[in-house]
Amino acid sequence: MSDDIIEIKTSTPSETYDLGEIIGSLLGYNNKMLILLAGDLGTGKTLLTKGIASALAYDGDVTSPTFNLINEYLGETTIYHMDLYRLDETEQLLDLGFTEYLEYDGIVIIEWPEISFPLLSKDFLFINIEKICVNERKFLFRGEGETANNFLERLSKYVSTGN
Ligand SMILES: Nc1ncnc2c1ncn2[C@@H]1O[C@H](COP(=O)(O)OP(=O)(O)OP(=O)(O)O)[C@@H](O)[C@H]1O
Ligand SMILES: [Mg+2]
Repeated sequence: MSDDIIEIKTSTPSETYDLGEIIGSLLGYNNKMLILLAGDLGTGKTLLTKGIASALAYDGDVTSPTFNLINEYLGETTIYHMDLYRLDETEQLLDLGFTEYLEYDGIVIIEWPEISFPLLSKDFLFINIEKICVNERKFLFRGEGETANNFLERLSKYVSTGN
């Protein structure tokens, strides 16, 4: 992975939602992106996804797809929202046709992505979320591959200039 890391902190749930909206609007340039959301239970992975989906003009419900594994949201683009928490073997992902989702046009967002690492290609955005205290979260962004690093450049510009 590239050594460039962007760090952003939020102090309230709504700031995390807003950060998701910023990510979603900056993604507008991409019709394809793989986003891995790592972090413990309740760090804000689903809330961030809500913001992303909203910025991409999806106005339905966004919930952790813990039982059904994959939710699809159709807005300006299709978002495939996965939660791999309940899986414990990479093999199970292959049985679900996981790798086909990576080929589709659209945004793929994966909560609890660790089990998928052996199946991933060389282009993804990795976001690690840490709980600092009750309402504070630290987001670390890293990119692997050109598409993700171009996105990080836009995010970095947004953070420093506001647009
Ligand atoms: N700054 C913050 N950012 C995000 N969530 C926050 C923040 N402060 C408090 N919270 C609370 O943390 C919880 C985050 O829930 P969310 O469902 O998004 O987590 P998650 O990472 O998807 O968890 P899970 O692993 O169970 O799917 C919410 O209850 C939210 O109100
Ligand atoms: Mg979740």
